[in-house]
Amino acid sequence: MEIIHVSAECYPVAKAGGLGDVVGALPKYQRDLGHVAKVVMPMYKTKFLRDNQWEVVHKGYTHLHNYWFNYTVIKESTNKLGFDLYLVDINGLLDREKIYGYGDDTERFFSFQIAVVDWLAAWKHLPDVLHVHDHHTALIPFMVKHCYAYQKLQGIATVLTIHNAQYQGQTGMDKTVLIPEWDIWKRGLLEWAGALNPLACGIRTAWKVTTVSPTYLEEMRYSAAGLEALLEYEKGKCSGILNGIDSVVWDPATDRYFDNHYDVATVEEGKQKSKAILCEQYNLDIRKPLITFIGRLVADKGADLLPQVFEESFYYIGRKMNFFILGSGLPEIEGRLQAIRDLGRGDYNTYIGYDEGLSHLIYAGADFILMPSRVEPCGLNQLYALRYGTVPVVRNTGGLHDTVIDYGDPGGYGIRFNHATPQDMTHGIWRAVELYQQPEMLREIRQRMMQLDFSWEASVRAYLDLYEGMLRSK
Ligand code: ADP
Ligand code: GLC
Repeated sequence: MEIIHVSAECYPVAKAGGLGDVVGALPKYQRDLGHVAKVVMPMYKTKFLRDNQWEVVHKGYTHLHNYWFNYTVIKESTNKLGFDLYLVDINGLLDREKIYGYGDDTERFFSFQIAVVDWLAAWKHLPDVLHVHDHHTALIPFMVKHCYAYQKLQGIATVLTIHNAQYQGQTGMDKTVLIPEWDIWKRGLLEWAGALNPLACGIRTAWKVTTVSPTYLEEMRYSAAGLEALLEYEKGKCSGILNGIDSVVWDPATDRYFDNHYDVATVEEGKQKSKAILCEQYNLDIRKPLITFIGRLVADKGADLLPQVFEESFYYIGRKMNFFILGSGLPEIEGRLQAIRDLGRGDYNTYIGYDEGLSHLIYAGADFILMPSRVEPCGLNQLYALRYGTVPVVRNTGGLHDTVIDYGDPGGYGIRFNHATPQDMTHGIWRAVELYQQPEMLREIRQRMMQLDFSWEASVRAYLDLYEGMLRSK
């Protein structure tokens, strides 16, 4: 089977969060099972672009309404990622430093999608499956079905994976003119709640829709940022497939970002060494448990509650733990987290920014990772933490519900709380401190966590079954 993943992110080329990790890993595992899996993404100005070898595979000329543009598709020549990687270069639009966050993101991602289908229409054969990810690529199923110029692609099975329905790419209906000539009777497929909504359009027009955990799919029927009714209506074609982790990139025994490697037999010493480095570097107290947060500093992740929770924890539990934050996001949350640094007495610090290497060192050196998410479609942090013997302290929602069992329950290993409130979170932290004071129990839990299997092997089968089902129904 030939599968084409189309995405805005792919690790290690460009990553802003878990989408990049998933698209950088899933195709490898699909190839391992004997399929042809390729990734197509925008050509941003990244280090990966500069450091690697490329060949031009296609040059095209197409248009975004009355703006005609040239695009070039380049391919990484050494198969470095374990699958074919294609970048679409559109001068002036895609070749920028950041992935998202520009005023013309709508035009950028519309042009990218148009270039992708235009290129596919020039192929001599058709791939079996077009697998698109999140709203940046969710118009592709519509385009291959209803744009006159791409009728040739109509028969390709399409899958949309929703990594996060909080982001839908809404824009004004006037932007429908940007999509190459399409069947005007299909206008209703583009519109949701009075806006052009790419994610909603993808949900309606893709052959199949998946979410990144079964519980998130369930939750979306009553909480999906306005798409609840649509998901209820389309539920017949939706399924939840849990993400896996790339067990080569995320392995404490071989991790390329730190030296003090360890496995299940040496986890205690191994973690202690990485913890010592972190404590030394960030002025923290190695004798106390190290509780961290890694991620986007936005309300969905519960990051806005962190400053209050830290203050309350110090006040009610006492200065029995260290907190360390690695993240970036809303300036207001960044500012508040930095402001309370004055409260720290060698037990609180932050690194505001994005640092892949530091994140690996933290998964290794931390004792606990805090994930108070309001919304968590899957969550990869807790899966990395488990593999690195770091106890997840999580809100019981979405993928966190599907992957973390409370250590008070049979076979459990994490700490779960129900509400994204300072009270519940502080209670979770109190339980973490209590657990840290029982080294035997903590050791046993670390052993248990590190032996769990959240690798891609299981989930990759579920995707292939889904594709095979679509191809049979053709
Ligand atoms: P989301 O995709 O919603 O941000 P996930 O838990 O799926 O959440 O994935 C987050 C990914 O991004 C993980 O690989 C995590 O380690 C990484 N990450 C998030 N913020 C940072 C940061 N500031 N520096 C380094 N890595 C980060
Ligand atoms: C999204 C979600 C996150 C998920 C990731 C990868 O960004 O917020 O929960 O793990 O996508 O699927």
